[in-house]
Amino acid sequence: MLQRKHTFVDGIILQADQALRTVFGEPPGSGRTNPAESTSDGELSSTERAESLCLMRVNHAGEVCAQALYQGQALTARRADTRSQMRQAAEEENDHLAWCRQRVHELGGHTSLLNPLWYTGSLAIGAFSGLLGDKWSLGFLAETEQQVVNHLDGHLRRLSDRDRKSRAIVGQMKTDEAKHRNTAISAGGAKLPEPVKKMMTLASRVMTTTAFRI
Ligand SMILES: [Fe+2]
Ligand SMILES: [Fe+2]
Repeated sequence: MLQRKHTFVDGIILQADQALRTVFGEPPGSGRTNPAESTSDGELSSTERAESLCLMRVNHAGEVCAQALYQGQALTARRADTRSQMRQAAEEENDHLAWCRQRVHELGGHTSLLNPLWYTGSLAIGAFSGLLGDKWSLGFLAETEQQVVNHLDGHLRRLSDRDRKSRAIVGQMKTDEAKHRNTAISAGGAKLPEPVKKMMTLASRVMTTTAFRI
């Protein structure tokens, strides 16, 4: 079957569709089973439940950012194999997005009201880093994934041992993010300068602190 080449307008429409699905809908994932399904809920106190809810809301917002970063980079990445790696990773991030959203709802809460803002900001950052060239955009990706792994480690320390479902999701996400990091490095990602890494940590702290509450 003949495939039509996407025009610029097609690209904009596809991008808008992706953005709306990420922030408001249920974007298609890779088809994996939610890791929380293989475990049962423990008895959580109201404090533990509230803490889990806030942490899982932060994780959901982080996955909204991940989607936008990957989409932004896929828009501007020069090499076709880099673009396809970005799209593949974005699909896996969709699993995380769906699992976190489901867990937030099970815990009786809502996802971050500022998700449209997180998406827009991350899309711009992703597109900008894509413009710097594949070496730097892959390096940026590798560093982002490393920071997410560290952040998820912190969440595993904070989540109650009884919240087995959230822990199962966060544990699987950590494994996947480490894999994404390694893929980006083996694809040629450069090591970022320390000041850039520090700025990234600072920016993610703004998001995580805000999404914890709103
Ligand atoms: Fe993720
Ligand atoms: Fe990732």
